[in-house]
Amino acid sequence: MSGNDVHKHGAGIASGPTGHVPVMLPEVLSSLALEKDKIIIDGTFGAGGYTSAILNSGANVIGIDRDPNAIADGQGLVDEMSGRLVLVQGRFSNLDEISIAAGYDQVDGVVLDIGVSSMQIDQAERGFSFQKDGPLDMRMAQSGVSAADVVNYVPRTDLTRIIGILGEEKKASRVAKAIAEAREIEPFTTTRQLARVIEKAVVRRHTDKIHPATRTFQALRIFVNRELEELASALFAAERILKADGRLVVVTFHSLEDRIVKRFFADRSFSPSGSRYMPETETRPSTFDLIKRSALKASADEAAQNPRSRSAKLRFGVRSSEPARKENMELFGLPNLVDLEGELAMLANRGISHA
Ligand SMILES: C[S@@+](CC[C@H](N)C(=O)[O-])C[C@H]1O[C@@H](n2cnc3c(N)ncnc32)[C@H](O)[C@@H]1O
Repeated sequence: MSGNDVHKHGAGIASGPTGHVPVMLPEVLSSLALEKDKIIIDGTFGAGGYTSAILNSGANVIGIDRDPNAIADGQGLVDEMSGRLVLVQGRFSNLDEISIAAGYDQVDGVVLDIGVSSMQIDQAERGFSFQKDGPLDMRMAQSGVSAADVVNYVPRTDLTRIIGILGEEKKASRVAKAIAEAREIEPFTTTRQLARVIEKAVVRRHTDKIHPATRTFQALRIFVNRELEELASALFAAERILKADGRLVVVTFHSLEDRIVKRFFADRSFSPSGSRYMPETETRPSTFDLIKRSALKASADEAAQNPRSRSAKLRFGVRSSEPARKENMELFGLPNLVDLEGELAMLANRGISHA
């Protein structure tokens, strides 16, 4: 990447051409401590809102997104940036390997903006929204197990756990029962079909602020895309690829995700007491320093303008010069949910096709 052509794109970004409004952009940029020619991984390229602003600061970007549409839509920006932006379709859990393959063994910053983009939600054919009728899909990568596979094939007890844990839905067993009964009559294929079944199972009271299907749709999306595991692995990958003084900046939108980031930073910023009673093997030098221990929130102005930003939390850490620690997934206490790929493989072995 070269430092040419720095200020062409992204000045004063409010929203991308696709209508996706980047959340907490000023806070993201200042947390990254950007400087000309630094190398930043944007692990959630999306509509390129963060990336454009980072490029605008003079830094260079390795953009990653698992959604092929996001990568295709970003090609114009790649051309415009003449070598300062590399775009790769892949999962951010592999961001260190992707960066090394792109020729960067170390980087100055990693930013993650967790969740779905407005383009994904707004396109009915992607199947993320119960407001629009579309195929019950929800796969960001457009491959693998779909939301329809989950509601059609996951045993009812596992479905209850998925909806209860990932959707934080108190009426999970009622929803799972309704789904299990409905699929006996007709398999689920569309978003509205599922929403109608949930609407009947969970009666909406006038005090309810959200639609009865909101939590179940959230649970299915997180499960289908393995979002919690992806996030946890990405934090370890960032620890490995960041150079000393590099920044890891993560924006999340609900408590399940924020808890993962919070636990990671708490663990990695642990300072040994220096006690002479503490055996040498138990000292764990911190790999991140935290300038702020609490999460940053969107400003009142932004919250008023963009409702999506109201639930956003930004946490960031500064990489120390200590070597990366081992991945310890137990740190996060992630739920142990059904292995649907395994279940579907078993069905296929018995000659039952799920397609
Ligand atoms: C909220 S949007 C990012 C928007 C972006 N910051 C912007 O300003 O335009 C999240 C993006 O991350 C992508 N994504 C989600 N999980 C991912 C993963 N595990 N690996 C790579 N990309 C992922 C989604 O496909 C989506 O495009």
